[in-house]
Amino acid sequence: MVDDTATLKRVVSINVPKTGGLQLSYTIVVNGVKHDVDAEGDTPLLWVLRDILNMTGTKFGCGIGLCGACTVHANGSAVRSCQLPLEDTVNMRITTIEGIGETAIGKQVQERWLTLDVPQCGYCQGGQIMSATALLTRTPRPKDKDIDAGMAGNICRCGCYSRIRAAIKQLGEAQTA
Ligand code: FES
Ligand code: FES
Repeated sequence: MVDDTATLKRVVSINVPKTGGLQLSYTIVVNGVKHDVDAEGDTPLLWVLRDILNMTGTKFGCGIGLCGACTVHANGSAVRSCQLPLEDTVNMRITTIEGIGETAIGKQVQERWLTLDVPQCGYCQGGQIMSATALLTRTPRPKDKDIDAGMAGNICRCGCYSRIRAAIKQLGEAQTA
């Protein structure tokens, strides 16, 4: 796990792509691994993850920050990757659904999701797990209002909300046992 991303420096080489637009190279850290990415700075992280780094676990839903399917962690906080420009991620520690199981709480969340058979179609579930993990990391024993706030904006068109809430509550109760 890389723990000092502040030392990473933005690469200054400038390429002029065939389209004539200005393209920069950025070094970002995803799931503890450095990646050199050639893309324009305002490219949303979601596009970088899926189309350049081939990490397709993070899903495209709305593209405008309203559904939560694209949720990742930036320095441990849940963020919508469709709204996060590549140039802003250079000194961040990015974690995706592919890497969250390497964290203690992320692993517990994934296991509880399986135990309670939370997903239906599964499309939203990467984002749900990322938000739940951020919530439980920040608030180990969340009350209903904490769950409401922490999971707000993570939409599930299959309506799995009651199982999602039950899984989070069980994880919280396990902290007090
Ligand atoms: S795709 Fe990012 S919030 Fe919907
Ligand atoms: S499980 Fe289908 S959208 Fe949530």
